[in-house]
Amino acid sequence: MNPALSQIGNQMSSLTGVRAILKDISETLAAGAGQEFINLSAGNPVILPEVEQLWRDCTVELLASHEYGEVVCRYGSSQGYVPLIDAIVKDFNHRYGLDLHERNVLITPGSQSLYFYAANALGGYSTSGKLKQIVLPLTPDYTGYGGVSLVPEALIAYRPTLDINSTTHQFKYRPDFSQLTITEDTGCVIFSRPCNPTGNVLTDDEVRKIADLAAPYDVPVLIDSAYSPPFPALNFTEMTPVFGENILHCMSLSKVGLPGERIGIAIGDVRLIGALEAFQANMCLHPSRYGQAIAARAINSGKLAEISPRVIRPFYQKKFALLEATMAQAMPNDLPWFLHRGEGAIFAWLWLQDLPITDWELYQQLKQVGVVVVPGSPFFPGLREEWSHKHQCLRISLTASDQEIEIGIQRLAKIVAQAYECSAVSA
Ligand SMILES: Cc1ncc(COP(=O)(O)O)c(C=O)c1O
Repeated sequence: MNPALSQIGNQMSSLTGVRAILKDISETLAAGAGQEFINLSAGNPVILPEVEQLWRDCTVELLASHEYGEVVCRYGSSQGYVPLIDAIVKDFNHRYGLDLHERNVLITPGSQSLYFYAANALGGYSTSGKLKQIVLPLTPDYTGYGGVSLVPEALIAYRPTLDINSTTHQFKYRPDFSQLTITEDTGCVIFSRPCNPTGNVLTDDEVRKIADLAAPYDVPVLIDSAYSPPFPALNFTEMTPVFGENILHCMSLSKVGLPGERIGIAIGDVRLIGALEAFQANMCLHPSRYGQAIAARAINSGKLAEISPRVIRPFYQKKFALLEATMAQAMPNDLPWFLHRGEGAIFAWLWLQDLPITDWELYQQLKQVGVVVVPGSPFFPGLREEWSHKHQCLRISLTASDQEIEIGIQRLAKIVAQAYECSAVSA
């Protein structure tokens, strides 16, 4: 049949941005049966044996306990599974000296759904018909924000300023406070810290400045902490989670080994949590409880907070160091290439200034030599203006083996050098 989709149905079905590219990538990898591809595009975290074992152990404990039937054979509260909420309250109060109680916490089926609830509960058309914006204070940022609003015109992103070090071929994005505008027409603010795709970590001061700009208008600031301490602690630079009255601290257990279980956690003001919980009740009643029950055990025992900096962080930090060293050795020193400072997350972000071809063309050329990366342009959701920089970047995953990273970067360096050379010849 050919169902007549609504406006929203059509909007949700359109293969835009990164979804179009991910489709191309999976078709490329599937079709390349004869060709060995080096996959530097993956977003799925690596299954680390010690982390997997932690979840096995928690599952064995759960199976042997009286709690099991209660967990999987019954519906629960739309706010989440009480033992997990209690574990979060206890852990965060103790760790960060907070004064949370259980009404400050909401559990969702993955953090993506949390952004969907918030974007639509806070952004879009207000009861008086005014457009409330969803502000991304700096771009590039997580491509998943691109599809969260049912009112796409509500999303607006700001260009950052760039700190460039030409000698070391490094750079870093910073919020451009001379442009960033938060007013009574702002519904909410969202950014990831550490950032997917760039690995950027906004400083504590930058975060406080954004929260302070939003506070006079009672605008919630969602800090997407999918890679932040205490778990998965995928920060390679010092950072402290920032809490505050208008801050919604948003976490995910996907990068601590539970992406399949879909667990997102929001910590914030009781009224905001209540509004998001109501959204959730309409959408799915509540998230599944098995993952929540094993997560409660891993948090209460302290093992999740222990394994994160000891096992998860060093695994990716070493991959970044290897990628950085390989790039320094393989990329021509006279070309304007810049690697974003590796401050966290599971990706590296490469900017090729004045690249004579687009990121999409470069992606295609890399496929020809058996290397798959993600072109950078879909990571600028909400950016209205044209910006050549947007077509000059690549996201490189840190999930591949050491050998694949080395070979992949060496091949990339050759293709990049050719791209600049070709344009110099034809000029
Ligand atoms: C920055 C960021 N936020 C949110 C998500 C969504 O995570 P999940 O829905 O698995 O919690 C991801 C997934 O990769 C991410 O990188």
